[in-house]
Amino acid sequence: MTASPDSLRILFADDDETFRRAMVRALTKRGHVVAAAAGGEEALAAARISPPEVALLDLRMPGMDGILLLQALRELEPGLPVVILTGHGTIPSAIEAIQAGAYHYLTKPCEIDEVEHTLRNAARVRAVVQEPASQKLPHEGSRGYEGIIGRSPALLKMIELIEKTKESRSPVLIQGESGTGKELVARALHVGSSRRDRPFVTVNCAGLKPELLENELFGHVEGAFTGASRTKSGLLEIADGGSLFIDEVADMDLAVQASLLRVVETGIFRSLGSTKEKSVKVRFIAAANRSLFDEVEAGRFRQDLMYRLDVVHIAIPPLRERLDDLPLLVEHYLSHSKDANDKQIVLPRESIDLLRNYRWPGNVRELHHVLERAILLSGGGEVTPAELTAVLQPGARGGAQFSPVTLEDSERRHIREMLEKEGGNVSRVSELLGIDRRTLQRKMKRYGLRSL
Ligand SMILES: Nc1ncnc2c1ncn2[C@@H]1O[C@H](COP(=O)(O)OP(=O)(O)OP(=O)(O)O)[C@@H](O)[C@H]1O
Ligand SMILES: [Mg+2]
Repeated sequence: MTASPDSLRILFADDDETFRRAMVRALTKRGHVVAAAAGGEEALAAARISPPEVALLDLRMPGMDGILLLQALRELEPGLPVVILTGHGTIPSAIEAIQAGAYHYLTKPCEIDEVEHTLRNAARVRAVVQEPASQKLPHEGSRGYEGIIGRSPALLKMIELIEKTKESRSPVLIQGESGTGKELVARALHVGSSRRDRPFVTVNCAGLKPELLENELFGHVEGAFTGASRTKSGLLEIADGGSLFIDEVADMDLAVQASLLRVVETGIFRSLGSTKEKSVKVRFIAAANRSLFDEVEAGRFRQDLMYRLDVVHIAIPPLRERLDDLPLLVEHYLSHSKDANDKQIVLPRESIDLLRNYRWPGNVRELHHVLERAILLSGGGEVTPAELTAVLQPGARGGAQFSPVTLEDSERRHIREMLEKEGGNVSRVSELLGIDRRTLQRKMKRYGLRSL
């Protein structure tokens, strides 16, 4: 059979014969050339005879499992993109697969459309990294978890936490600097849960006057105030059964905080001007880009509300503390840009090094903008360090030796690393740091760090 131009050469290994046959049939029907194997050894032999463009491997197979096979295939074909198939709900193994270098994972049972889409993306990423060696990025890419790109240990831990808690209705507090992806995480919590078919409603507390914010949240009845000519439902009611994302919660006025506290605690609230109580089932997801603990200390935030919201605590580390994610993010953004000749735009290694030495005050959002502008400047083909330098903020530029991180940054990082090393043992870490336990706990709160 002659393959069509968009046909893929796929190596597929799975010990489940029924599933294997069905998959081979479906992929072949779509014009792909599939070499199927029932196990690791057989797959390796097939790859030696005819090198595939992309591999789809079942994780659990007797003998050589998917991860071992991935490693063996990589020795044979270093840049080979691999997609791992996992059983239902086995997120730890999926994380293991990504850490071992898989491009992506798919959960069985899976739709053939999704399989084909993922395999195509994986093959395309390989085409990108197969540019001349100097232009290569040192990894293959990923579509990420619900759009969250990155595979640094910190990010994988965060994804694991999302997985574990997405179904629960306990309130969530997402803490992270501007542009770290707080909204992305909030959406991931919603779309990953069984609430996905119910509304995901966002309210941004920044810049809204308290009366307006209350009106937005709780709604009003006709005649509640001058100009209230009709009854209006609040966002709480609209979000019933779904999730309410309260963005920039640190900016919420104290009076509104009191009303919010009640509904977070009991699910009960009253619209403005109404005597009737309403009850809703909403998952509250709040986000803040500064420490709520500091806001409590400064008397601007209710402590009781902080504790109510901060049940599941998701701290997104700033980009400068997880630079391992940078190449993947760069690749993600570049894969959406082509130059005038429809050629993939690439960043040479020196350009990546330059990005690694930048402080990224605006985190991932800033990275996106920087790349967009540098690509425009470059006119296509390759983005040089000079073009990047022209668009980076001078104050945050230069290697770590020229532009050190702030004392707070390094203290936060140091405490986090110590906690990780000591398995979250606060007493032990305080001993090692030579400070008392309470001081350490205060600092952990300030930096949004947990002992686990
Ligand atoms: N890990 C990531 N992978 C892919 N895209 C990301 C990631 N983190 C952030 N982004 C992107 O960066 C942009 C900013 O993200 P988002 O709006 O979620 O940030 P934020 O933390 O809510 O920022 P702010 O505090 O300024 O509102 C979005 O376009 C988002 O898609
Ligand atoms: Mg935001």
